[in-house]
Amino acid sequence: MENGLTHMKINIQTKLPGPQSKAILERLEQKNGAYNIDHAYVHSGEGKGSHFVDLDGNIFIDFAAQIASNPLGYNDAAMLRVLQKHTNYTPIKYGGQDFIVPQHLELIDELLKIVPKELNAAFLINSGAEANENALKIACHKRPTAKIGISFYNGWHGRTTGALSLTNSRSVQVKHFLRLPVRHISYSEEGPEELEALIRREFDADEIGFVIMEGVQGEGGYIPASNLLVQGIRKVTKKEGIPLIFDEVQAGMGRTGKWWTYQHHGITPDIQTSAKMLQVGATIANKKWFPKEKSAISSTWGGGQVLDMAMGAAVIREIKKRKLLKNATRMGNGIHQRLREIHIETNAIHHPRGLGLMQAFDLENVKLRNQFQQKCFQKGLIALGCGVSGMRISPSLNITKEEVHEGMDVIEEVAKGIK
Ligand SMILES: Cc1ncc(COP(=O)(O)O)c(C=O)c1O
Repeated sequence: MENGLTHMKINIQTKLPGPQSKAILERLEQKNGAYNIDHAYVHSGEGKGSHFVDLDGNIFIDFAAQIASNPLGYNDAAMLRVLQKHTNYTPIKYGGQDFIVPQHLELIDELLKIVPKELNAAFLINSGAEANENALKIACHKRPTAKIGISFYNGWHGRTTGALSLTNSRSVQVKHFLRLPVRHISYSEEGPEELEALIRREFDADEIGFVIMEGVQGEGGYIPASNLLVQGIRKVTKKEGIPLIFDEVQAGMGRTGKWWTYQHHGITPDIQTSAKMLQVGATIANKKWFPKEKSAISSTWGGGQVLDMAMGAAVIREIKKRKLLKNATRMGNGIHQRLREIHIETNAIHHPRGLGLMQAFDLENVKLRNQFQQKCFQKGLIALGCGVSGMRISPSLNITKEEVHEGMDVIEEVAKGIK
């Protein structure tokens, strides 16, 4: 076993944060322009599976997986092999679209094997927000008459100016920032009708540059879309010739038990994005959707991070080899079942919901949610909030049954404490 660590269990030995973590956090609070910490500890790099060790030797279980972006947990053997293969040269960042490394093709090849065959080309970039920015650019390039874009109430697509204009989740994330012209429609069965009404009453269809949606709203509260919503939106966008973009940044790459959320609904979007567990941002569409003009789409680091691309390709191969889509469904169902039991037994947590390894529940209000999160942390469980007063569970795809139960025992204990 790597690092001599086997079968870790939660073990909190210090007051949190421990002294070593505290020393770093205090200095960061002064110097980091966006200090924003819910869990006061610092990673040491040690860990195994869904457990990790902080600088003070405390062992935690991770139900947040680096904001749903750590696909295979800590110190996974396959990931370490990729790392070891790349120890003999620098730089590890090459100049994007202009200076090519083989890992660029390796990742695009692996990615295109797991998307529908109509989506036969990808552009790689640094982050989820940038993947979405490029999706908007590609859509609007094809639709130069566009005046507005459409996204959904409660949707979340990133923090760059374009992506932020689509985002409609917490006000602190959007207030005071400049935004592009975007109209929001309901993330419910009414959504398709609202889109049709906009076209009837306010805009010609060719003035609408795109519709962008998540298959499960992530930051907005882990809300899965219904069949009626997704299929209805696909029908209207197809009929009107409006590009449909699926943002698969958080919910894609197998997290919901299928590679992509739209596969739960039997549709294919015109453009999709990916990032997080892929380790690299990607905008994926048919080759004919991408601008033909040289340099219309590019970036210094897009497709230039050798390690990230090699890791992303290995992640796809490992998910297949280890049947982790099935694991996501099975473990997700197990978590859901436990959440329902805790809800019935304690009535302290509400509205258990989710798809695969995107599970969530609500507390009665934000204050209680924040307290719940901190109590879990003190007992060694890392989990993030979502929506208005929700907690989300989004562990690595290779989480085991034992790890699920260890983390759920903490949630149960905390819920019983506030009964
Ligand atoms: C659905 C969705 N889209 C886009 C993003 C933005 O990704 P990034 O933080 O990599 O820019 C996120 C991040 O949480 C997300 O959940």
